[in-house]
Amino acid sequence: MQTFTSVSILRAAVREHRQKGRTVAFVPTMGNLHEGHLELVRRAKDMADRVVVSIFVNPMQFGANEDLSRYPRTPKEDTAMLVAEGVHHLFLPSVEEMYPGGLEQQVRVSVPGISNILCGAERPGHFDGVATVVSKLFNMVDPDIAVFGQKDFQQLAIIRQLTRDLNFPIRIEGVETARAGDGLALSSRNGYLSQEQRAKAPALYATLCSTRDAIANGQRDYPALEQAAREALAHAGFQPGYYEIRDAGTLAKPDAECGEIVILASATMGNTRLIDNVTLVLP
Ligand code: PAF
Repeated sequence: MQTFTSVSILRAAVREHRQKGRTVAFVPTMGNLHEGHLELVRRAKDMADRVVVSIFVNPMQFGANEDLSRYPRTPKEDTAMLVAEGVHHLFLPSVEEMYPGGLEQQVRVSVPGISNILCGAERPGHFDGVATVVSKLFNMVDPDIAVFGQKDFQQLAIIRQLTRDLNFPIRIEGVETARAGDGLALSSRNGYLSQEQRAKAPALYATLCSTRDAIANGQRDYPALEQAAREALAHAGFQPGYYEIRDAGTLAKPDAECGEIVILASATMGNTRLIDNVTLVLP
């Protein structure tokens, strides 16, 4: 695996693949890799001749009182995992390489409509930071395919929209959420949980599944289901954030035409904010 810290050297390597007619898949990450990331990498390997992974803890997507400074950084372990998976190139830029003019002067990409709801309402500016860095990475890596996890359902919707609206010739692939045996969605932030909190945390996925089962069994009083779920989460030791049943295509409240719903939740255990979602195709 070749590791690049400079955009120009990365570009030259990808250009060479293109000249040789090879396809390139890209997996952007913030590192502290786990099995969920490795699933994205495996999917990328199945779909293209060469795989580029980036690791960049993007300061622009963290709010002032969020966990930027304590976000886990494990470059050695991450590199070893990527080598074991047969990744071809790792892009590991510094903040200066990504934002040479500083964050304040950086042009920003903002996806209207869906960036300020759900996670965006709880984390103002977060999705502008994500949309900006993903657009920059797309321009730097120039892949044919980019692979993202469905755990960040809203992020994936935003990336699909920016790809369409900014005419990136990139196919976006969403990969199903990787879970621990007890159902907890894999996330770098799970590492912040104490043993006791970790034991309680699967209640988030269990609650989402029971809402999904209730809808599958014909219940359609969505506000009542959302309220019951918030209470169940509080009972399980979470501080519930949002808990919303939405149209999976638009993230709007579902109307009579809706063919697939997504149930999305954020909930905080101690100081650790977790998110998860499940989908259901309606009959
Ligand atoms: O999902 C993530 O890890 C990040 O939001 C991403 C897409 C790598 C952008 O920084």
